[in-house]
Order: sequence, then C-alpha cells, then structure tokens
Amino acid sequence: MPSTFLNKVQDKSAIIGIVGLGYVGLPLALRCVEAGYKVIGFDIDQQKIDKINGGKSYIKHIASDSLVGAVKNGLSVTTKFEKIAEVDAIILCVPTPLNKYREPDLSFVIDTTESILPYLRSGQLVSLESTTYPGTTDEELKPRIESGKLTVGKDIFLVFSPEREDPGNKNYTTQTIPKVVGGATPACLKAGVALYSTFIDKVVPVSSLRVAELTKLLENIHRSVNIGLVNELKIVADKMGIDIFEVIDAAATKPFGFTPYYPGPGLGGHCIPIDPFYLTWKAREYGIHTRFIELAGEINNSMPDWVVGKISLGLNAAKKSLSSSSILIIGIAYKKNVDDMRESPAVEIMELLRDHHAEVDYHDPYVLDFPKMRKHLFDLHSIELTPDKVKSYDCVVIVSDHDSIDYQMLLANAKLIVDTRGRYRHVRDARIINA
Ligand SMILES: NC(=O)c1ccc[n+]([C@@H]2O[C@H](COP(=O)([O-])OP(=O)(O)OC[C@H]3O[C@@H](n4cnc5c(N)ncnc54)[C@H](O)[C@@H]3O)[C@@H](O)[C@H]2O)c1
Repeated sequence: MPSTFLNKVQDKSAIIGIVGLGYVGLPLALRCVEAGYKVIGFDIDQQKIDKINGGKSYIKHIASDSLVGAVKNGLSVTTKFEKIAEVDAIILCVPTPLNKYREPDLSFVIDTTESILPYLRSGQLVSLESTTYPGTTDEELKPRIESGKLTVGKDIFLVFSPEREDPGNKNYTTQTIPKVVGGATPACLKAGVALYSTFIDKVVPVSSLRVAELTKLLENIHRSVNIGLVNELKIVADKMGIDIFEVIDAAATKPFGFTPYYPGPGLGGHCIPIDPFYLTWKAREYGIHTRFIELAGEINNSMPDWVVGKISLGLNAAKKSLSSSSILIIGIAYKKNVDDMRESPAVEIMELLRDHHAEVDYHDPYVLDFPKMRKHLFDLHSIELTPDKVKSYDCVVIVSDHDSIDYQMLLANAKLIVDTRGRYRHVRDARIINA
C-alpha cells in the first residue's frame, strides 16, 4: 500500500481532496492544480461552490481569473462528501475558532472528520492543516479514523501540517513558504513529506504530530506576546513623550538579537488573537498556567479602549464630547490591504464609540458593506472619501492603513486625526494624535 500512494504522488496521478475552501484551502487547491494534480475541493457552503464554479473569487488576493484557469485545469468543487472515496490525499482546512468561553471549538474539525469517515479507504492520506493544540490529531482524528477497519500507518497515513500564511504579503506564496510536517508513524511522515514536496519548495519534517502542532502555536504565540510587549511600551513611551516608532526603528539597526514589532489598535484576524488560547486550554490539563499568553491577550485586548481614550482626549481639546461627535474610521479590515474582518479591532473601537453615543461612519475600499457578524451589527456602508466629506467629521481615526488611501488628502481636510498605525509618524501637526 505505501508504495502505491508514493508512486501516485511521484507521477502526480494522485487526486487531492481539499476540505474547507476558505483563506487556507482555496489557495492550496490552486497551488495543487498548478503543480499538475487533479483536485476535488469540498465545502459545506454551497455559495462558495457556486462562486468557484462561476469563476468568481470571494477572497481579495485571489484573482477570479485564476479560479477560471484552475477549473479548466483540474479543479472541481462539491458539497458531496461521497467523492472522498475518489481522492488519494485528503487535506483538512476547516476553521478552529474559540467558543463563547474562549475554549477551543473543534466542532468543525470533528464534523469534517465524521463526514469523511464513511468514504475513507486503504491507501489514502489524511492531513490536518487547521491550527490546533498538541494532541488533536492523535486524540481526536486517529481514533475516529481507526473506528472502522483501517489502521493508521498500515492502511492509511495520517499527518499534521500547519498552514502558514501572511495575507497581503506579495513576497511569499503557498509554494515558497516552507511547510512543517509531522506524521503519526514514520511511514505517515514519509508519505506526508513525499506529497507536500511535490508542490511546496521546502518541506520541514518533524518527529511527531505534536511537534508539528506546537510549532504552529509557538509561531503565533511569539507574535502575540511581542505585539503585546510593544503595545505596552507604546503606552509607556506616550506618557514619557517619546515616539515609539522612532525607538523601534533605532533598535532595529541592531544587526542581531532584535526583531522589530509595531504597536497598533489591537490584534485581529483568525489566527493571532485565537490560536494562543488553544495552548492555554490544553496546558491546564498538565496543571500549567500560560502567563505570557494571558498577559499578552490582556494588553492587546485593551488597545481599543486606549484608542477610544485618545479620541476622547483629542475631542476634549476641541471642547467636544464623544456623544456630540461624528467620527470616521479609516480601514475596518483587521490589517492593511486585506478584506478580512475576522476579530478586527476596528469593530471593537466602533462598538465602544457607539456605546458613548458617538456617530460613527467608516471608509474601507475592501469592505464596501459592513458584513453580518455573529457578535456585531452595524447597518453601515463604506462612505466615499471626498475632501468635503472628510471635513464634515469631528475626528478621523486610522485603524487599518490600507496603502490605497489618500493620506495627504485626509491630512489636508481632517479636523483631528487619531493615528493607531504610525502612518503620520513623520508629520508634525497638532491635529495628529498617535494612539
Ligand atoms: N486565514 C489564515 O491566514 C490562516 C493562516 C494559517 C492557518 N489558518 C488556520 O487554517 C484553518 C482554516 O482557516 P481559514 O482562514 O481558511 O478559514 P475559513 O473560514 O476562511 O475557511 C474554512 C472553510 O471551511 C468550510 N467548512 C466549515 N465546516 C466544514 C465542514 N464540516 N466540511 C467542509 N467544509 C467546511 C467553511 O465553509 C469555509 O469555507 C484554521 O484552523 C485557521 O486557524 C488560517
């Protein structure tokens, strides 16, 4: 059996199934097609399936043309899980959010595993790519896969290979970002490395599933903790009248032992605000309290309050209150040049401003209509950014500094600017407040 899978991978006759066609699964599917594979994409969202079939991308950085090309060259998509029987490799890219108690919600991973179970057969490989705590693949996937007649490592291969992505970063693609792979057994690892090596430039094998799972969490905890640190230092520097961006740039001239991180309005996106708490939860089983993770979360989560405090101070200087002010938010996606709103700190800031009875509008070229969100409801649409419109607001707040915004025009017309990203860091103007 092992040689059959390896042969099929080597001559690219293997069919690859990708389950979950979102920010991770869709680019992966396109890369596999580009590498010469036939790919079947699975999703429970019929709208996504229809859009892919209609050649319409629903992710900003994926061109519709590339979908049309992929469908021509071997990508088919479906909601019908019986087609899992036709594929040789099954790559799971489904969400791993937190539940309302901020604990891991593995329901998507487990539901997906249950949906594919009836169609699993000898000779296949299953790879979990969703970010999760160490032990998930071994404790949740393996027993389910082995609940029938299949034995992992003998009949079927099981690997964990975390996804790494930096949305909006044009310097890296799915192909050029090195990929870590851990296997349930040495044979599983060999099969996983063989598969991924055919479409990823550099594959990094590690000794176990748990090492691969914790590697991903370390990467994201590293970011969360360092961003928390620099956000705390921003507040200290502000009180001391020091420009934190100047300090970071000066420190970054050190050629070793320092990595620059920049402060901002708080964490956003599907990964950094969430993933660290997967480890926090699992560490409790071992009697360990993950203090760095909690502290970084606390500091980063307090940033929207800090920003609103700065808006309030700025308005106060103009003898205005929040409740009598109109405020324009620039950029509501969670970071610049993307259209992803998940966990965006802009939404927290807007909620706080609304709680204070401020009138809030936004401009975001990538989010034309405020999307339906589970916890937030705003009946708003991106306003057109004209000089007259900008003049009409009491305050303009830069939350996500998309490169396509005309910052000169904003500066020329705004009464007050609260800048959370250091976009105006080199401009000396009393109307600009750093937050
Ligand atoms: N977005 C990123 O930049 C990024 C980067 C690295 C890792 N990750 C991780 O990758 C995983 C996926 O994230 P994403 O951003 O692609 O999520 P996403 O929400 O964009 O996409 C997930 C897709 O899975 C589908 N889905 C949900 N349940 C399903 C089921 N039972 N069967 C089939 N399809 C199902 C959804 O409809 C959706 O299309 C998460 O664990 C995330 O933490 C994401």
